[in-house]
Amino acid sequence: MRNVELLPSILSADFMKLGEQLEILANSGVKSIHFDVMDGHFVPNISFGAPVLKCISHKYGMLNDVHLMITDPIKYVKDFAEAGADIITFHYEAVKDHDERVKLIKEIRSLGCKVGVSIKPATSVYELTDILAGVDVVLVMSVEPGFGGQKFIPDSLEKIAILRGIREKEQLDYKIEVDGGINVANIKEVIKVGADMLVAGSYVFKDLSKVKEILEEVEKYDA
Ligand code: DX5
Ligand code: ZN
Repeated sequence: MRNVELLPSILSADFMKLGEQLEILANSGVKSIHFDVMDGHFVPNISFGAPVLKCISHKYGMLNDVHLMITDPIKYVKDFAEAGADIITFHYEAVKDHDERVKLIKEIRSLGCKVGVSIKPATSVYELTDILAGVDVVLVMSVEPGFGGQKFIPDSLEKIAILRGIREKEQLDYKIEVDGGINVANIKEVIKVGADMLVAGSYVFKDLSKVKEILEEVEKYDA
């Protein structure tokens, strides 16, 4: 058992019923929620920020996995840490160079959060080689970041497999997260190839009465 986790992305929530929906998730056995932050600059869409996280964080006992799809993440990580983030994931492409990435990783850690780094579909896993030892999570975007409800990009499977291989070879211990287009048809495949954390937005929120079934499905392939 690798303890593969399902993380619903509240990007697809009904914001008139956010509290109610989070309660359903928590009561169904969801342990962490995924919080997609978009700035209309790094990605062509705007979502929500730290004040929203502050309102909901830890109210239902779930952990907050914050995915920053923003330019200049270093300017904002303190706000998200103070608002209750448990994991803060930044985009590799949003940070200028290696030194800046190392600085950002240290900053996130010093704020008491776990650190994740994410790559867009066009970014090679090998770009991350120098920072893999410093992060807790590597998030493979399996759609172009910016919108929920897109189709899973099959090349992502190879990226997950490579990350798993590097982790084994180098004896590292980051978790592999996959985000975008996850549904009942590909859960098995992403888990088998090595994903530890599965983000799902539209698929989970389209019918919250099925969350328990989805969690069971995840557990089934979690060998
Ligand atoms: C996309 C976000 C994802 C998104 C996933 O930029 O990072 O977390 O909400 O949504 P689905 O599961 O609908 O692809
Ligand atoms: Zn995300």
